[in-house]
Amino acid sequence: MKNILVTGGAGFIGSNFIKYILDHDPNVNIVNLDLLTYAGNLENLVDISDESRYTFKKGDIRDRVLVNQLFNEYDFCSIINFAAESHVDRSIVEPDIFLSTNVIGVQVLLDTAMSHWKTEPHNKYSKEYRKSVKFIQISTDEVYGTLGKSGMFSEKTPLAPNNPYSASKASADLVVRAYYKTYGMPVNITRCSNNYGPYQFPEKLIPLMIANCQEEKPLPVYGDGMQIRDWLHVSDHCAAIMCVLEKGQAGEVYNIGGNNEYTNIDIVRMIVKELGKSESLIKYVKDRPGHDRRYAMDSSKIKSELGWKPSYTFEKGLSETINWYITHKNWLDRVRSGEYMEYYEKMYGTVNV
Ligand code: NAD
Ligand code: TYD
Repeated sequence: MKNILVTGGAGFIGSNFIKYILDHDPNVNIVNLDLLTYAGNLENLVDISDESRYTFKKGDIRDRVLVNQLFNEYDFCSIINFAAESHVDRSIVEPDIFLSTNVIGVQVLLDTAMSHWKTEPHNKYSKEYRKSVKFIQISTDEVYGTLGKSGMFSEKTPLAPNNPYSASKASADLVVRAYYKTYGMPVNITRCSNNYGPYQFPEKLIPLMIANCQEEKPLPVYGDGMQIRDWLHVSDHCAAIMCVLEKGQAGEVYNIGGNNEYTNIDIVRMIVKELGKSESLIKYVKDRPGHDRRYAMDSSKIKSELGWKPSYTFEKGLSETINWYITHKNWLDRVRSGEYMEYYEKMYGTVNV
């Protein structure tokens, strides 16, 4: 059995990934380290709470003592780091926590993994690592900044982040790269486009619009609504991360996109139509400062080198996602009311697991 540390596994992508890897690889034990910030929700993982190959630990990736203890206990062969502050709008209001979690947290994970994985742990200059160890940093297309009407981001596009969130993710990518170049640490960086699918926190575009539309509340569209994102279904993203875990070459970056470019206003209109509501709910509001105009990912490297390709069309993925939120109204209501935060206390009491 391989012990894998997944950090931030109570969030949207991490919780989908944990279920995906447990389903697809019988030889993994997953330890999920998550601080349970507002974005962490153990109700996302309720269907695997009795799974013997899954363990939850509440804690902070910036806590060196804790991360070291976990390594001593589980002797991880891989870390997949999803833990982050992930919402651009929050980063504009409060950048500090973004720099702290998204950069320093990554350095703590790298340092700890390095000291456990080196064949000579006390020799910083040795580049010898135990076999089959790997650190995967889950990054974002936003590190590349913004595109004009044409072109795509490739792995060689220079980093040019435009908001505190993307700046923190770009900084983390550079730290991960430096640990590869300086210490020979076996790392991969994956940069994905905008994810959508079940269990996404309803502050992001698609779940927010579905939730508001169902309740016939205003649908706030920033600026002119003509910004373009490339949408990736979360299960296609999970498959890509597994490919990188199994086959990614040390030190390489892989772009992961869905090849689904849509303007924000088109997405909102599709949701309104699918839910049978009126477009009069759409309200244009003040634009986000530093708002990137267009993202588009060239994913040819992961396709040709690792054999990954997305399976979802956007039409199918969006329709399934809308249906998921309709049939999981209880999940959505508990997130919107804040009740989901009581789940940890109820499940684990005051005992720190
Ligand atoms: P999310 O906000 O839903 O989840 C983040 C998780 O990290 C939460 O469970 C939270 O409790 C946890 N966390 C935060 N700070 C922590 C800390 N200090 N220690 C331990 N856990 C902590 O985010 P997501 O949408 O699932 O994104 C996961 C990763 O993917 C992030 O790194 C994000 O930057 C990246 N990403 C997301 C998207 C997207 O569309 N959602 C796109 C590109 C990249
Ligand atoms: P978001 O889901 O926050 O993801 P990101 O900023 O990481 O791309 O936003 C997606 C797009 O939707 C982005 O261009 C901002 C826009 N948007 C709105 O127009 N209204 C909203 O209420 C939200 C949350 C986002």
